[in-house]
Amino acid sequence: MLIDSHTHLYLENFGSEKHDVIRRAIDAGVNLMILPAIKSSEIAHQQELASAFSEHILLSAGLHPSDVKADFEAELARVEAELMTGKYIAVGECGIDLYWDKTYFEEQKIAFERQISLAKRFDLPLIIHAREAFSEIFEILDKHIDDTLRGVFHSFTGGVSEVHKILEYKTFCFGINGIVTFKNSGLDKVVKEIPPEKILLETDAPFLAPVPQRGKRNESAYLVHIAQKVAEIYGTSYEEIAKITTSNTEKLFRLNS
Ligand code: NI
Repeated sequence: MLIDSHTHLYLENFGSEKHDVIRRAIDAGVNLMILPAIKSSEIAHQQELASAFSEHILLSAGLHPSDVKADFEAELARVEAELMTGKYIAVGECGIDLYWDKTYFEEQKIAFERQISLAKRFDLPLIIHAREAFSEIFEILDKHIDDTLRGVFHSFTGGVSEVHKILEYKTFCFGINGIVTFKNSGLDKVVKEIPPEKILLETDAPFLAPVPQRGKRNESAYLVHIAQKVAEIYGTSYEEIAKITTSNTEKLFRLNS
């Protein structure tokens, strides 16, 4: 069994095939899928999948940094209201993205700090999105880190120095996706620096489809290719990587308690 710790199967990219995509994942052994939030207009779509596949779909509530705009206060109020329902296992995805648009950089920082506070208040892990913003994110985390704050750096593409910085927090994991299968990504050498007990697998579907599906619309069934590659990098078996990453994900999101 595998867990896809980050997949946006509720997006319009999947059109009317959303349920088929989930069934294909389950058939491929991807028994559990975590759907991170982006913005309030997608919440109903997330919830539709969670109610149709309650044994296989778990939800996170949050505001994606690229969706932090002038209305971010209203968006955060909705995130808080959702968390109050007790139906969510994480806060995010949240963080800072300076790749797409820097217009709302100040607001992105505020929204990230507010979601850190929500994670602490609701005792939930953070799903962090960091794009061209590691130093800005570390600066904020350094201020708020404590024994209870935990989470995952999703779609991790940092280098060895970022690995060591994140390991110092002790309570944060690394989300590894299809980028690790891309020739010349260099991520394989970085992954070797990460202890296997800190690795979560993710697809980030519909984006970043792994080789041999690169360039296509990604889906959670393709997680098997990522697990295979990570097993190769560590020189271990697919079964061993499936077992350890499932256990890591269950621990971080407290799925057994
Ligand atoms: Ni995402």
